[in-house]
Amino acid sequence: MAGGVSRATVRSLGEAGEDIEQMVEDVRASLLGVPKDLSPWPKYFYDERGSELFEEITALPEYYQTRTELSILQEKAPEIVAYTRCRELVELGSGSASKTRALLDAMVAGSGSTSDPARARYVPFDVSESALAGSAKRLIEEYPTLEISGFVGDFDHSLERLLARPRSGAFGRLVIFLGGTIGNFAPERRRGFLERLRTGLEEGDYLLVGVDLVKDTRVLEAAYDDAAGVTARFNKNLLSVLNRKLGGEFDPELFVHRATFNREESRVEMWLDSTVEQEVPVASLGLEIPFEAGEGMRTEISTKFTRESIAGAFDEAGLRLLDLYTDDEDLFGLALGEPF
Ligand code: SAH
Ligand code: AVI
Repeated sequence: MAGGVSRATVRSLGEAGEDIEQMVEDVRASLLGVPKDLSPWPKYFYDERGSELFEEITALPEYYQTRTELSILQEKAPEIVAYTRCRELVELGSGSASKTRALLDAMVAGSGSTSDPARARYVPFDVSESALAGSAKRLIEEYPTLEISGFVGDFDHSLERLLARPRSGAFGRLVIFLGGTIGNFAPERRRGFLERLRTGLEEGDYLLVGVDLVKDTRVLEAAYDDAAGVTARFNKNLLSVLNRKLGGEFDPELFVHRATFNREESRVEMWLDSTVEQEVPVASLGLEIPFEAGEGMRTEISTKFTRESIAGAFDEAGLRLLDLYTDDEDLFGLALGEPF
């Protein structure tokens, strides 16, 4: 435990998905539209059970993303940390932060010495309080010299407040958004998100974004429809969230999980198809949601990128793509950018 006292705080940055009025507003139009489409609201997947199921997904043989991104990080973290000279790592949608250790190891190795006294700081940010508290607890035990300032909040509302916080000394900030979570945003939302992020970055700050890459349809669809049925449970857990929070009466047994790669839109789409004709009461909406037999409700999109498409998305938001680190099979990429 040589080297200092560990410090960790987890605070709320305001509304973090517990705002039922907001949820009513978000899902009302989604459940009344054609097709029914809950994919604009990925945050509702991540209640405590949803966060646990996502962790199970990350260990599935079909879900190559997590282990591939980890292997790229393990290889490239020292280079990324040296290049960006960061002493503060801000992680959006940090979840369990299991892959972040690769970057933290490289950061901690270079900080806190007499020649470079700045203490490394880690700022995880997530809508899931359970995931955030669990990761902060584990990390302070592992990194006794690291300062951890965690924030529970929602990208949609609190990104500006998160980035406006005073930074750690004169060193740069590296903002990371791992796992391919940016793929869960539709193009308009992604653009707005990157622009808001860009506004919060200063010269000398960098952004590192994990992106899943376009590949064979069978590989992509298997990653979202695993043999053990974990992704189906993750998908159906969304119905339990609607039931618990909005007084819904969805019966998960009356829906089937489906995942398809939409090559035109370059995204995997998850759906829940109603197996019967039914009307589902949702008390907080004051509505009964009608489903025809076989009717699908889209629940998630997961965009797959190419080098060109991520460079274009960065460029239109005022970010220059400096490098795209990939694995040998080009399964997954880590896009390093800076504001221009
Ligand atoms: N970065 C981790 C977790 C990815 S899962 C990894 O790579 O494994 C997506 C994460 O984003 C979840 O932890 C979820 O709680 C969080 N998240 C989803 N929507 C969010 C929002 N609107 N605001 C903040 N966090 C959000
Ligand atoms: C968090 N996000 C990047 C995951 C993905 O792959 O789009 C969520 C997920 N959905 C089904 N499996 C994993």
